[in-house]
Amino acid sequence: MRFAAIADIHGNYLALEAVLADIRALGIADIVNLGDMLSGPLDARRTIEILMPLDAVHVLGNHDRYLLDRPPEKMGSWDRPAYEQLDAAHLDWLRAQPMTRVFGEQVFLCHATPDNDEVYWLNTVHPDGAVALSPLDRIEQLAQGVTQSLILCAHTHLARAVRLRDGRLIVNPGSVGSPGFRDKHPYRHVVEAGTPHARYAILERVDGAWQVTFRHVAYDHEAMAALARRNGQPELAHALATGWIG
Ligand SMILES: [Fe+2]
Repeated sequence: MRFAAIADIHGNYLALEAVLADIRALGIADIVNLGDMLSGPLDARRTIEILMPLDAVHVLGNHDRYLLDRPPEKMGSWDRPAYEQLDAAHLDWLRAQPMTRVFGEQVFLCHATPDNDEVYWLNTVHPDGAVALSPLDRIEQLAQGVTQSLILCAHTHLARAVRLRDGRLIVNPGSVGSPGFRDKHPYRHVVEAGTPHARYAILERVDGAWQVTFRHVAYDHEAMAALARRNGQPELAHALATGWIG
């Protein structure tokens, strides 16, 4: 079993196109998408029009949910611009996707954690804003009840794999379209990938064990940075251009 995991596209259709081309060039047919597909001041419409006909398995992220569970005037600065680009058919397609699901019997898919779409799992934010690897006890606690041998999560935009003491593997493939952001919860912090590449992961089961390969794909990130700049988001534009916030 060999497949690709993509996540956190956030409306960056050029990064998505580059990742899909890379997956195709490697001869990989199966794709899972871990959510946060559209929100951000980029191009939600082109992104969902690539995703809808794609033969892939999707789960919703917190930002996808925000497009469905509140009126536009209550949406945040990343969700409202995406919502305004979408029509009813796009929202119906989104509404049909689950929050979690099992893929190929042995793979559990969620956006953040199995029970919550807003909690960092493999990373923990400290009061000084440092974003560190979470303690193994906490990671294992949040994996309780998941019986699959491979668990995929996203949301932090940080590519990472953690092996649990019972042998299960948790993988975050990183973000296709958003290499840096700033957040206030639970403490002020920034997440920075350090390069502008589009990130995703390839998972393969070899002799009963999961192997993960993290991919960094070059794409026309300057074009997306220019779009963010035109849409009044200079900090996001800098992150798209460099992989850094500051
Ligand atoms: Fe998210």
